[in-house]
Amino acid sequence: MARYNECRVRDGRDGVLGAAEEQSRKRRKIRRKVRETDSLPAAPSVLMELDQMLESSHPRIATIAAIVAKDASIAARILNVVNASEYFDGHEETWDIRQAVAMLGVEEVRRLVSALSVVSAFPTTLDHVDYRDFWRHSIGVAGAARLLAVYSYSGLAVDPEEAYTAGLMHDVGWLLLECCLPDIADGIMRMSLGESMPRLKAERALMGTDHGDIGGMLLERWHQRPEIVEGVAWHHDPGSAEKHGRGLAAIVHLGDRICIAGRVGDSGEGISGGPSASEMEAVGIPVSKCSRMMENVLEAARKMSEIIVHAG
Ligand SMILES: [Fe+2]
Ligand SMILES: [Fe+2]
Repeated sequence: MARYNECRVRDGRDGVLGAAEEQSRKRRKIRRKVRETDSLPAAPSVLMELDQMLESSHPRIATIAAIVAKDASIAARILNVVNASEYFDGHEETWDIRQAVAMLGVEEVRRLVSALSVVSAFPTTLDHVDYRDFWRHSIGVAGAARLLAVYSYSGLAVDPEEAYTAGLMHDVGWLLLECCLPDIADGIMRMSLGESMPRLKAERALMGTDHGDIGGMLLERWHQRPEIVEGVAWHHDPGSAEKHGRGLAAIVHLGDRICIAGRVGDSGEGISGGPSASEMEAVGIPVSKCSRMMENVLEAARKMSEIIVHAG
């Protein structure tokens, strides 16, 4: 893939070994390690059950409420969110999950369940992760990606709810490394700090790939749709994604850049700068509308991330 078509390196055996081959070897090695890890974070069961139900039948409030109620902690936090004044101003408090589901509507419940359950799938304390900043960023990107999918031109055919899911999970690959392969995460951080390079660059130097690719592996294991797996795997290099996930990868990439530039949380990648006008135009958002739209996206991203991080 394009990411690996760079300069060449030497090895001691036969003279020249392609840098692309070397990167590819490192990537195969880390992917094998991830596959062989038997302690990968488990898929959030309420979310999986909810998605299965939504795919197979016409959604009914009572059935959705029953699924959500299976996880008392998620149900309680959804009630907290519903009762937060920022969310639904001026209504009576409710402590009935069925009523809360009816008030929120199916899509909003699904968004909340996915955010709350994905956050809970990972430990709150990890060596090189600021938990709140990380999830502020991820939930912010989810909200931003969803709005971008709504605003982008129809030919891109990115489903806003898939954009939300991919945005939410786009950086989980780094959490996986921190929880399951801490020696590798340590090595990357040492290189990043020691050589003053962005963590993303150190990841590619040491693993031949980045946290997007690792996150894609986890999402495959979690039976997420191929478009979402691809969109997450290539969110730092959308042009290299397979066709079926390229639009989603481009949207997540933009949402990521907008949240990085607007300082909505921080996932610790050490990169900076917002999206370019040409990147925005590529998904059908004209330059004249960029700044206004970015303000809207940022406002939605901030609101969503604050509500959910506080509910957690
Ligand atoms: Fe990332
Ligand atoms: Fe990110």
